[in-house]
Amino acid sequence: MKKVLITSALPYANGPIHIGHIAGAYLPADIFTRFLKFKGVDAIHICGTDEHGVAITLAAYKEGISPKKLVDKYHEIIKRDFRSIGVEFDHFSRTTSRTHYMIAREFFLKLYKNGHLEKRTTKQYFSPKENKFLPDRYIIGTCPYCGYEEARGDQCEKCGRQLEPLELKNPRSALTGVSLELKETVHWFFKLSSFKDKLEEWLKRKNWKPFVKEFSLSWVKELQDRPITRDLDWGVPVPLDDPDAAGKVLYVWFDAPIGYISATVEYLPSEWEEYWKDKDTTLVHFIGKDNIVFHTVVWPAMLMAHGDYILPTDVPANAFLNLMGRKLSTSRGYAIWIDELVKSVGQDIARYSIALYIPEKDDTDFNVVDAFSRTNAELVDSFGNLAQRVLTFIRRYFGGKVPHPKSLSSEDESIFNFARMKVQSYENNLLKYNFRLALKDAVELSNEANRYFEHQRPWKLVKESPERAETVLYVAYQVLKITSALFYPFVPSSVKTLWDYMNIKEGKFDDMVEVSPELSGVEIKDSKPLYRKVDDKVIREWVKILEERAEGLESKEKRISIDEFRKVKLVIAKVLKAEKIKNTDRLLKLEVDIGDNIRTIVAGIGDKYEPEHLIGKKIVLVKNLEKKRIRGVESDGMLLAASDKDGKPVLLVPDEDVPEGSEIT
Ligand code: MF3
Ligand code: ZN
Repeated sequence: MKKVLITSALPYANGPIHIGHIAGAYLPADIFTRFLKFKGVDAIHICGTDEHGVAITLAAYKEGISPKKLVDKYHEIIKRDFRSIGVEFDHFSRTTSRTHYMIAREFFLKLYKNGHLEKRTTKQYFSPKENKFLPDRYIIGTCPYCGYEEARGDQCEKCGRQLEPLELKNPRSALTGVSLELKETVHWFFKLSSFKDKLEEWLKRKNWKPFVKEFSLSWVKELQDRPITRDLDWGVPVPLDDPDAAGKVLYVWFDAPIGYISATVEYLPSEWEEYWKDKDTTLVHFIGKDNIVFHTVVWPAMLMAHGDYILPTDVPANAFLNLMGRKLSTSRGYAIWIDELVKSVGQDIARYSIALYIPEKDDTDFNVVDAFSRTNAELVDSFGNLAQRVLTFIRRYFGGKVPHPKSLSSEDESIFNFARMKVQSYENNLLKYNFRLALKDAVELSNEANRYFEHQRPWKLVKESPERAETVLYVAYQVLKITSALFYPFVPSSVKTLWDYMNIKEGKFDDMVEVSPELSGVEIKDSKPLYRKVDDKVIREWVKILEERAEGLESKEKRISIDEFRKVKLVIAKVLKAEKIKNTDRLLKLEVDIGDNIRTIVAGIGDKYEPEHLIGKKIVLVKNLEKKRIRGVESDGMLLAASDKDGKPVLLVPDEDVPEGSEIT
């Protein structure tokens, strides 16, 4: 491998980082980069915050601050989060940087000049009150599929369906609630469909993770041109001298991936082209599965259209991480945030426990009890213990000097062979993004080394056969060194500490996994245990915290007690009279008999029910509601109705005849 450029998806600067982000992209990317650098490969890891788009403007609106304030705040928080968990970048930029604006503009203009962009007229919702066209996410209305009244222009959160704003019934502004008008507007489209064959051919040759490749190919089959501009006052302005471009910015998914290039330019102003323009460079994008099409279809097409840059070599996407059997949610606060996790268990325990659950193929559940128990068993009790016992033994019995071996027994040879085998398997696994299998190789070697140590019983040998004891500790020290090299990309900071204790200079991977006879006689340093177990109390606390957060998920639909429900008095009422209230569309004035007296109520059902059809009907009435004046009529009760799929009322009536005044319980 010549040069390797590794990127991680640019996180939106609209919230802190949680374990789902780390497991999905950043930890695998960090492990991969550390491994390649360890191998001596010229690898760099590039990232930054994604600071445009409605994900930002909506979050800013919610927090009541400007988008600029919001991204400044979260850019710092996100950087701090990555630092705390030891995810390192050679450069961490942001898409509001000057360089990025420049590169994004150039990119757009090159595509424009090459004829890949086209101005087209479309219809879009316009808010007269705000005097602007609204992006999909800013439009809410009734879902045409399930009738949910708060569905968003891009998706219904109730039934999960993808939507187009034009499908919504009763569309209104998500911010002000005003109803919207359909108007013609102009946007620039990227002629993506013209890349169909080229993309298909390119994708077919790729030896990627099967689910990534299949998903991408199925998408290419239905490739459509896409608008790459938006009506928003936050973003990279459309760089054209056209009056139609006024007030429009580049779509965030157009500008953000270009951020990979601009961050590289910022990092290496005079050498960046060696990465982006050299066919021998390997370009690897680490992302979560929700970002797949953007990285395997749209972005490669953009790069093809531009022409000067290389295409992605691989896109090792991961699936989603769930937490205690539930979906993570930043907006609803259901997550483990990285800073709190690291504060609770430390950097390397946090990294290890997450690495165990990298969702390489399928969505994977992070269960804190299992995660910390396994970390305790594998990292602390196996690897940590191996380090501790080897170092302590050498200090206690050999004056702190790594002993010289005498002749090697077949058991010594066989643990070295086992190590060699594990090293090979580990390398293969890491290069194929099988992080969990690679970690398993490391743990198996550590377990085997512990078994060797116990089986040899050096504490007996020191009395009975001192020379053999020296050989055993020499072997154990060498195997510890090899094992530590395998653990390094996963838990770098503790392994560096261990190398210091062992008095080993940090070398390249290939040397670290070799037996190094010249280390005999080297003086080790005083050491402390590398890890502390996550104790049961801490695990129980995490379980409790997450249970509380899960309750928070349901609080949107807050449960009430039966006593609270009983406060609502419902009765059967018979309609005696009905008439339209003048100058209204839908309001009817009804007189109803509730057994012990007659009530007058106002009901908004006139667009569906003719007054004369209501007379004699038995309906359900809320009896103990506060009185309310509506259009000059005092309404003393409320009838119950459902909404049909068009939002029209449907009266609830008893299944059999019951006398008026019957209580409903
Ligand atoms: N911000 C996006 C997300 O969090 C990812 C952007 S990746 C990039 O889903 F390629 F566009 F940079
Ligand atoms: Zn719906």
